[in-house]
Amino acid sequence: MSLYVVSDKEELTKLAYHMILGVIHSKKEVTLGLATGSSPEGIYEMFRKSRPDVSHVTTVNLDEYIGLPADHEQSYAYFMKTQLFDHLNFKETHIPDGMNPDHEAECARYDAILAANVPDLQLLGIGNNGHIAFNEPVTDFELRTHVEELTQDTIDANSRFFETPDEVPTSAYTMGIKSIMEAEQILLIAMGTSKAEAIKAMVEGPVTEAMPASILKNHPNVTVLVDREAASLLEAVQNSSGGCGGGCCGDHHGSDNHSSGGCGSGGGCG
Ligand code: F6R
Repeated sequence: MSLYVVSDKEELTKLAYHMILGVIHSKKEVTLGLATGSSPEGIYEMFRKSRPDVSHVTTVNLDEYIGLPADHEQSYAYFMKTQLFDHLNFKETHIPDGMNPDHEAECARYDAILAANVPDLQLLGIGNNGHIAFNEPVTDFELRTHVEELTQDTIDANSRFFETPDEVPTSAYTMGIKSIMEAEQILLIAMGTSKAEAIKAMVEGPVTEAMPASILKNHPNVTVLVDREAASLLEAVQNSSGGCGGGCCGDHHGSDNHSSGGCGSGGGCG
């Protein structure tokens, strides 16, 4: 896991955008795994402004609320359509169908799509509780697409997008950890103090199903891009007098979690 601490959200967004663009330009056929939520919004804005050709790019999204139709303003299908898909010429886009009442059939349908479209790069945010996609603590690392009951933490965090807390869906279809780990490359982004504890647990703690993002330490090609606030509880940041703004990097491997102190093979940062 290569960790990069940058000074702010703007710098993080630019780096992430250029890293994704590098993957888009690297091959004739590309699959991108995409995330929703506030973390990638700046990246999608950069895509809307620069409108690169993506006619060779297929996308697969991480998750969708169960019970929200695609035209509901808070559905992830609506988010992706308005933020990105309406503005660029993607070859194909895929997202779980939150209105399919047959959970088994929907999970099987989405798994078949994922099997045919393994991401060259999977973009991830991280929940305050360490979830990736909607794989909540404690999650089974072996699961593929499944229905996840959302934890109260997640429901509370997501209630900011809904008029009343009662409207927040309590379950979702989500890509499982097993599929996420099959991506060629993973880029996890996090900004703000609300992510600091999760980032610390992911980077410095053990690999455990109680901290879903910790599994990423077992993936051979993961870049973690965080701003100073999200990095604020990391030992390396706390021990450095001037802080880590502008590029404090390290490699964190497996559960023994050491830091090399130098910039790792971040695949596009630096
Ligand atoms: C979204 C997703 C979630 C979010 C996470 C962070 O598709 O799968 O795991 O990435 O909840 O959300 P934000 O970016 O809103 O803080």
